[in-house]
Amino acid sequence: MMKQYMETKEKYPGEILFFRLGDFYEMFFDDAERVSRELDLVLTKRACGNGDFAPMCGVPFHSAEGYIARLLEKGYKVAICEQMEDPKAAKGIVKRDIVRVVTPGTVVESSMLDESRNNYICSLVYRPGAVGIAMGDVSTGQLYAAQLNLPHKAQLLGAVTNRLGRYAPREILLDPEAAAWEELTRFIRERSGGAGEKAPPALYENQERAEKAVVSLLGNRTLPELGLTGRPLAVLALFAFFSYLEHNKMSGRERMNRLELMEDGAFMALSLMDQRNLELTETMRGKERRGSLLWVLDKTKTAMGKRLIRQWVTQPLLSPAQITLRQNAVEELVQNPPFLDDLTEKLGGIHDLERIMTRVVYGSANARELKAVGEALKRLPGIKAVLKEAQATLLQTLDREIDPLEDVPALLDKALVDEPPLSIRDGGTIRPGFEPELDEVRRDRDGGRELLAALEARERERTGIPKLKTGYNRVFGYYIEVSNSYKNMAPADYIRKQTLSNGERYVTQELKELEARILGAQDRALELESRAFEYLRRYLARALPYIQAAAGAIAVLDVLCSFAAVSAARDYTRPTVNLSGKIYLKDSRHPVVEALLRDRPFVPNDVDMDMGDNRVQILTGPNMAGKSTYMRQIAITAILAQIGCFVPASKAEIGIVDGIYTRVGASDDLSAGQSTFMLEMAEVAQILKSAGKNSLVVFDEIGRGTSTFDGMSIARAVLEYVHDTKQVGAKTLFATHYHELTAMADELPGVKNFNVAVKKRGDDITFLRRIIPGGADDSFGIEVAKLAGVPDKVLGRAKEVLAQLEKGSLPQAGRQPGLPPKEEPVQLTMDSPESQVITRLQAIDVNALTPIECMNILFELRKMLR
Ligand SMILES: Nc1ncnc2c1ncn2[C@@H]1O[C@H](COP(=O)(O)OP(=O)(O)OP(=O)(O)O)[C@@H](O)[C@H]1O
Ligand SMILES: [Mg+2]
Repeated sequence: MMKQYMETKEKYPGEILFFRLGDFYEMFFDDAERVSRELDLVLTKRACGNGDFAPMCGVPFHSAEGYIARLLEKGYKVAICEQMEDPKAAKGIVKRDIVRVVTPGTVVESSMLDESRNNYICSLVYRPGAVGIAMGDVSTGQLYAAQLNLPHKAQLLGAVTNRLGRYAPREILLDPEAAAWEELTRFIRERSGGAGEKAPPALYENQERAEKAVVSLLGNRTLPELGLTGRPLAVLALFAFFSYLEHNKMSGRERMNRLELMEDGAFMALSLMDQRNLELTETMRGKERRGSLLWVLDKTKTAMGKRLIRQWVTQPLLSPAQITLRQNAVEELVQNPPFLDDLTEKLGGIHDLERIMTRVVYGSANARELKAVGEALKRLPGIKAVLKEAQATLLQTLDREIDPLEDVPALLDKALVDEPPLSIRDGGTIRPGFEPELDEVRRDRDGGRELLAALEARERERTGIPKLKTGYNRVFGYYIEVSNSYKNMAPADYIRKQTLSNGERYVTQELKELEARILGAQDRALELESRAFEYLRRYLARALPYIQAAAGAIAVLDVLCSFAAVSAARDYTRPTVNLSGKIYLKDSRHPVVEALLRDRPFVPNDVDMDMGDNRVQILTGPNMAGKSTYMRQIAITAILAQIGCFVPASKAEIGIVDGIYTRVGASDDLSAGQSTFMLEMAEVAQILKSAGKNSLVVFDEIGRGTSTFDGMSIARAVLEYVHDTKQVGAKTLFATHYHELTAMADELPGVKNFNVAVKKRGDDITFLRRIIPGGADDSFGIEVAKLAGVPDKVLGRAKEVLAQLEKGSLPQAGRQPGLPPKEEPVQLTMDSPESQVITRLQAIDVNALTPIECMNILFELRKMLR
């Protein structure tokens, strides 16, 4: 037996080997030591020949799932080795074989999967200038592939990491060249949790073999039909992906035969970092769903819809025609509440068809899951009946994609009892009347049971023992039990079987015969039930393509209904989507901040940006005024528009944005071992390289992490660069506390100043949250500190220091005597009242001021000089 173990282990050295011995999965040697430590299991020993002992630990087979889940979480893979024949029937050592390798990306058990997320395995192949990608979710059958061709390695890295960020695969397979690409592996380590895995080099050596295998696995369609011509690296990546499944003994790979290309340029560029900065699926701080865009937007009713809406939110479209298709559907649903309610109601209660069908195909689904498929399918005709009325093209298409499949639930209903047990081995899964032979065997078994009851009554009478009773246990079978006080009354034909503390158990010839009949019938019934169940499972598996198509359509419908429900409830507007390059919003709101505010209303703002004079907005204003909120709300609105949802505004026009690039402060990445400033600059560099004139760039206080002058100079240079249409020319939102930068509005044609209005009375300020043209004149940092509860003493001192600074002299404490001040003198001139007045004057657009405002500014200027 140990020899068999060693041979098996040799084939799966990297995995934890669960070796089936009777009712347990046992682990030996290193595996045992590691697992006993990780899962807190008792470590024992087992003789392994030559007087040696192997460390051993085990888990009961029926509760193995929980242990496996914990091991996967800790980054292990588990190879499951089963007994391949009945130990009773086996001659010599029972045959055993690996039946499955469970890895984070190949789990299909619902207990180990998050129903709201896809669970992808990614396969990458790198050659200079190109990367092949395959991305597959075994649990749902989704499969994507692409070949990215980009001459510059940095661009390629951006494109690849973008995909990795978007799909967040649980496992990543790398060909040798990808594994040697340092920036890539670093990204994988730092960002996506799991480490990349080097696949066997031999997989990538034979293009022809890879093509043949991929073609045959994908339903024998030709390479051109699959869209794979001219994408040899995508083919290799797919081949490695399928080989990995084969290595892990995933049967039912034919389920993954619908390949979609991750077309280049079909989606808005939106990197993982930008998704985080905009809090699309989780908040930056707590990584929570509450407070994210998804939290507001996701009112889906099905697990399929939940996964799809997450995908859509991170994949805004670029084609106005495609967006319009979705918008038309959403609009129809918004305008017809009974229609929307009806659909929403019918979508509820549809189970996770995609994942259950995976288990059906892999053969691990139980009767309750089959039942769930049946219940879900029963809802399809109702949904189709509602969709029949639809006008929108997309809704009509969805209707066509749903096959009502009425025969399947009918068969399941006929075959399965209303509440089947979890395991077919418990018996009673198949409904009477479905299988005549089963009915007969059951009658036989029940007849036996009736005879048993009769026998008990008869024996009680015959012996005169009032408490005589029959019973059953697994070891001794059926027996007659007599308590001690009556045991001397047991007749001579009773054969003693077992002595208990309080009585004796006997059998009789008649009882033995009855037992054979009952148990025989029972075994036969189970056998027939299993056979019937297997028939049902296969029947269902054959319907897979239709069910898969229906599930896909249900997911889309669910997301559209969710968009419509949110748009109606929150009073969103259908945006005009075109290629004008404009972003025009009236009364725009931030969808999430608005939803979070309870006691006060969200103050709407207008936005007017284009590719000409209103390209760059410099945004100044006190802390807490609402700068970051305003900038993010514009970016999020563009995303909402391009996923086909309505937007929080009273009027909206969105010129398609090809990418959103954000740099938001305070995302310190200490774990990555880079300083905040260094990281910030790296991100800025990446943005400057990637963004183009159709992009939207959000810079939230860049250059803050270094000395004032360095920071300001960098900020200014970056602004000039993004403003320059020959370099970037993107629509840009730029929040800053460097008020000096507002001067740029006078120098560069595409730059405009805006600030967030505040009302000041004495030491107190009120935030008006209104974005108004022009630069801000004051930072109100100390006032905001007061609002935040900084002690009065500190505030008092801060004011003193500020006053001294403004007067042009340095505060005394805190300066090292003797050392010549390095930057301060320059800073003083910059911050001196004179220069401040000049900056302020430069920032004023005299034509845009009312006489009252002019008066106010005059007063203010005079105050600055005092
Ligand atoms: N238009 C608005 N209407 C109502 N409340 C708002 C609005 N904009 C922002 N807020 C509130 O003000 C808070 C602070 O906003 P935000 O973080 O955007 O300020 P900020 O100007 O970026 O501050 P800082 O300069 O410190 O980064 C938000 O959390 C939100 O609660
Ligand atoms: Mg901010």
